[in-house]
Amino acid sequence: MASASFKSGPSKRQRLRVLVCDPIKEVGIERLRGAGFKVDVRPKITSEELKAVIQNYDALIVRSRTKVTSTLIERAERLKVIGRAGVGLDNIDVEAAEKRGIAVLNTPEAPADSTAELTIGLILALARGIPSAVDSMKKGKWLKGRLKGWQLKGKTIGLIGLGNVGLRVARLAKAFGMKVLFTKRTPPSPDVLQELEAEFVSLEDLLRRSDIVSLHVPLTDETRGMVGTRELGLMKRGAILVNTSRGAIVDEEALLEALRSGRLGGAALDVYTVEPPRDMRLIQLSNVVCTPHIGAQTEEAQVEASKLIAEKIIQYLLQP
Ligand code: MLT
Repeated sequence: MASASFKSGPSKRQRLRVLVCDPIKEVGIERLRGAGFKVDVRPKITSEELKAVIQNYDALIVRSRTKVTSTLIERAERLKVIGRAGVGLDNIDVEAAEKRGIAVLNTPEAPADSTAELTIGLILALARGIPSAVDSMKKGKWLKGRLKGWQLKGKTIGLIGLGNVGLRVARLAKAFGMKVLFTKRTPPSPDVLQELEAEFVSLEDLLRRSDIVSLHVPLTDETRGMVGTRELGLMKRGAILVNTSRGAIVDEEALLEALRSGRLGGAALDVYTVEPPRDMRLIQLSNVVCTPHIGAQTEEAQVEASKLIAEKIIQYLLQP
């Protein structure tokens, strides 16, 4: 028995080919090779080049750079699985893949701590004016008297979404002594409510009561533009908006207007509708703290994403 399954294993593996289309850590590539797959690594492959070779592969691994469109999927004759080393699936036409029986796997657990930590970092940066404080020091200025901030303790944070990242932000916010409100599609478990000492509220209630509103939902047809003029108008005057999820969840024109008019006190953004952003109006506002989509850009998150996606693909492709 044992030798029969040993014989069939390697021969199946040797036929399987994986294409890595975006930069991922070596550890996952080594695992795939160790499992016997033939792995090609082309982290700069263009969409035209990918179209020309896609029919040769059983598995694709992408991050956010590669767009896996329905046109690409149509040509993917032997593709069985698309692995996303990370969370967001908005660069993959999941419906088109599923129609063709191609599995789409991701690693939502991998960057969750890093993204949650960045979220708190951005809130602190905005609360204490850290970017301008650093900038002024580098320019040889001592602006102690002008740099007045506010503390997190005692503030109310409203989390839209309480998944992998939202839950971690809630825990960190609680440790800072903040009151946590959250809204999500499905009711939370009593354990979560007890652990976080948080309130599960409607979106409107959350917007009205929070000093800080932070977004932690994926980009879908339902969430695209979910924070627009109406929602920003419901927020407390002077409140801040934090977005480390996906840019297109927020109507950026409406946000620009709310920040310019003083309706909102500030915004902390790691993500943009177009990346890199071509329109710099939001980014150049003095009450906006911004980073270039670095939520998952830590050594730990990238190693974990690479390892996990490799393991999930191996398990999927070698299932009996
Ligand atoms: C993710 O969805 O994994 C993160 O936003 C990181 C990224 O896409 O680069």
